[in-house]
Amino acid sequence: MSEAILLVGGKGTRLHPLCTFTPKPLLLVAGVPLLTHQLARAAAAGVTRIVFATSYLAELFEREYGDGAGLGLELVYVTETEPLGTGGAIRNAARHLTCGPDEPVLVFNGDILSGLDIRGLRDGHVASGADVTLHLTRVADPRAYGLVPTDEHGRVMTFLEKPERPEEIVTDQINAGCYVFTRSVIDTIPEGRVVSVERETFPGLLASGALLRGVVDETYWLDLGTPSAFVTGSADLVRGHVSSPALPGPTGDALILPGARVDPLAVLTGGTAVCDGAVVEAGAVVEGSVVLPGARIGRGALVQRSVVGRDAVVGECTSVVEAVVGDHAHLGPHNEVPAGVRVDCGVHLPERAVRVSVPTHLG
Ligand code: GTP
Repeated sequence: MSEAILLVGGKGTRLHPLCTFTPKPLLLVAGVPLLTHQLARAAAAGVTRIVFATSYLAELFEREYGDGAGLGLELVYVTETEPLGTGGAIRNAARHLTCGPDEPVLVFNGDILSGLDIRGLRDGHVASGADVTLHLTRVADPRAYGLVPTDEHGRVMTFLEKPERPEEIVTDQINAGCYVFTRSVIDTIPEGRVVSVERETFPGLLASGALLRGVVDETYWLDLGTPSAFVTGSADLVRGHVSSPALPGPTGDALILPGARVDPLAVLTGGTAVCDGAVVEAGAVVEGSVVLPGARIGRGALVQRSVVGRDAVVGECTSVVEAVVGDHAHLGPHNEVPAGVRVDCGVHLPERAVRVSVPTHLG
């Protein structure tokens, strides 16, 4: 018996507009909800019971997973009426744990794709007698993250805010969003108010002399919180750069889910996933992208490193490059949607309405 808390209550604002109708952990990554990959890995690591800490679009989680029997897990759902932040959510969910005060409890952020040895993290925590063990990962550019330096024994020395000057980059280790708490430590988090585990709980524990261990894991790790990370994570799963027991098909250049229709004259590359009920027409090129259920990519369209939302349409000869097209949006033919654009859900764009280049008939 091993218990975990899953933090899935966030609004996913950085992925806007993808989370308008779907919470981030339930967005389809390589054809199945992001969370399904995590749950499958947790179950394989011996986790048997998980308390979901939900808030935003809370009811959709139970609708997706029910009691968890299909995954070999026992699932329990707890909803915050007002989001309590990461620490407040852990404290609130802990009321539904069944383990004793000295037992280890895994805590996962719901938006991470990783190859972490979950069992190893938990067993190492128990053997060390730490209060909290944090999974740390190294990143090439740590400027966007809070930093977590450790000493030669792996003891966390301090928690640093995002570095603003080069001399503040004292380590490339960052918090990877997976922890093991000794149960009794969770009970010290204040109840009934917003608490950030990263900004308040961890620094407070350090200041009080608690033992916080950081374990640097060099395997695959990606926070799927931004559109570019989201498409990268999905493409990495499809191509087998990170493995998941939940991948619904063989690895390769593209994953076409049952119920999708792809014309033989369309080209799918770069780890593209085409979901159930989606259509890709002749001459379309779709590279490293996610085409969500019911979407249609028209003849001769180009979609690169982008997400095309549920039931959205990319018209004939329209290009979408490093962009996000919201659910039910309709891009008419011969548009050019450039990098960084987020097309809102349900927006209708007429033919040739948005261009980067001059249309040929005017040239
Ligand atoms: P952004 O709005 O794009 O920053 O995304 P987010 O809302 O998911 O926030 P963030 O990525 O910082 O959250 C990390 C993890 O904690 C995610 O799995 C969130 O679902 C979860 N989370 C964040 N805030 C809360 C909260 O108030 N309650 C609960 N239950 N979970 C939360």
